[in-house]
Amino acid sequence: MNGRSGVAADSEEPASPQHEIPQNVNTRRVSVCVFMLVVLMAAVVVALLLFFTQSPSLATADPLASHGHDPPANATRRLPDIIIIGVRKGGTRALIEMLSLHTDVVAAQSEVHFFDWDSHYRRGAEWYVSQMPYARPGQLTVEKTPAYFTSARVPERVLQMKPDVRLLLIVREPTERLLSDYTQVFHNRLEKRKRQQTLETLLMRGGELNLDYKALNRSLYHVHMRHWLDAFPRSRIHLVDGDALIRNPLAEMKKVEEFLHLEPQINGSNFYFNQTRGFFCLRDRRRERCLHGSKGRKHPRVAPEVLRKLYDFFHEPNRKFFELVGRTFDWK
Ligand SMILES: *[C@@H]1O[C@H](CO)[C@@H](O)[C@H](O)[C@H]1NC(C)=O
Ligand SMILES: *[C@@H]1O[C@H](CO)[C@@H](O)[C@H](O)[C@H]1NC(C)=O
Ligand SMILES: *[C@@H]1O[C@H](CO)[C@@H](O)[C@H](O)[C@H]1NC(C)=O
Ligand SMILES: *[C@@H]1O[C@H](CO)[C@@H](O)[C@H](O)[C@H]1NC(C)=O
Repeated sequence: MNGRSGVAADSEEPASPQHEIPQNVNTRRVSVCVFMLVVLMAAVVVALLLFFTQSPSLATADPLASHGHDPPANATRRLPDIIIIGVRKGGTRALIEMLSLHTDVVAAQSEVHFFDWDSHYRRGAEWYVSQMPYARPGQLTVEKTPAYFTSARVPERVLQMKPDVRLLLIVREPTERLLSDYTQVFHNRLEKRKRQQTLETLLMRGGELNLDYKALNRSLYHVHMRHWLDAFPRSRIHLVDGDALIRNPLAEMKKVEEFLHLEPQINGSNFYFNQTRGFFCLRDRRRERCLHGSKGRKHPRVAPEVLRKLYDFFHEPNRKFFELVGRTFDWK
């Protein structure tokens, strides 16, 4: 569009540009310009409409719950009724995906880190709710942030925010969990081209286990569990056996349904074994999905004497954990 066109000259009165076209310039050129402008604006409007109708997940932060449509009638965002508090590398992603098979559950898709990151916590309940998916009346909302379990200030904060929340903790055999934790950090550093450290240098110090190694600390379940039981009664925390969930997801999920007072709904046809991957994939009314490939990563090779040290070391912490929670797990 050239500088002499009516549109540029009329920019002071944007309310009705069509009526301002001067009669003394080349009227045909101006009308072509105006026509093109209208077409352009129409295209922009159509594009915007398409964008907002095609990708509501951007607005709802929950592609699973809204699956391509507007929020269901009468649905609202609410504080979570259920929080999966951990443990890191325990199978929290598998658990929340399997829980989402139930039609009365809607899950936040990303880890919210509300209670453990001060920068988020300061934003308050309103921000926290804005991170939740839409839930219809009667549906339960769940979020998972595995870092909650090992952060000592989190239990009290959760209690303040949502006193009647129900908590799920998924645990695995502590040595396996530690190796998996190390492996994830190893791969993250590999992707960021950061220097690698061998497990032995992190884990051992002067021939003894290094208690300052974070991945080791995170497997001291009794230390962290104590903080949670200071805030919540035992009956409000359900423990999921992460090793059992991988072997036989249905049996573990029936217990979760029961704890949450959900109508029994998840059944054998929700799971199918994938031979290539060596673990279960999920199936519901909408689609089939397998967990992300990284979930089945091979662990590093660890010297047998280090492994032995780890199993021996965790024996006592495990015993304390079993005592604390009033049940045992089939750990080495
Ligand atoms: C939404 O709520 C209104 C008022 O409570 C009710 O009449 C209506 O049936 C509800 N719609 C759906 C789809 O549940
Ligand atoms: C492990 O971490 C917890 C919580 O951060 C801390 O209180 C505890 O002292 C640590 N334990 C060891 C043995 O480092
Ligand atoms: C499992 O549940 C689905 C829908 O929830 C149902 O269609 C199917 O018949 C059930 N399968 C079995 C084996 O009960
Ligand atoms: C099984 O896993 C493989 C490897 O990840 C994948 O390519 C394939 O699509 C999966 N099959 C089914 C039926 O899910």
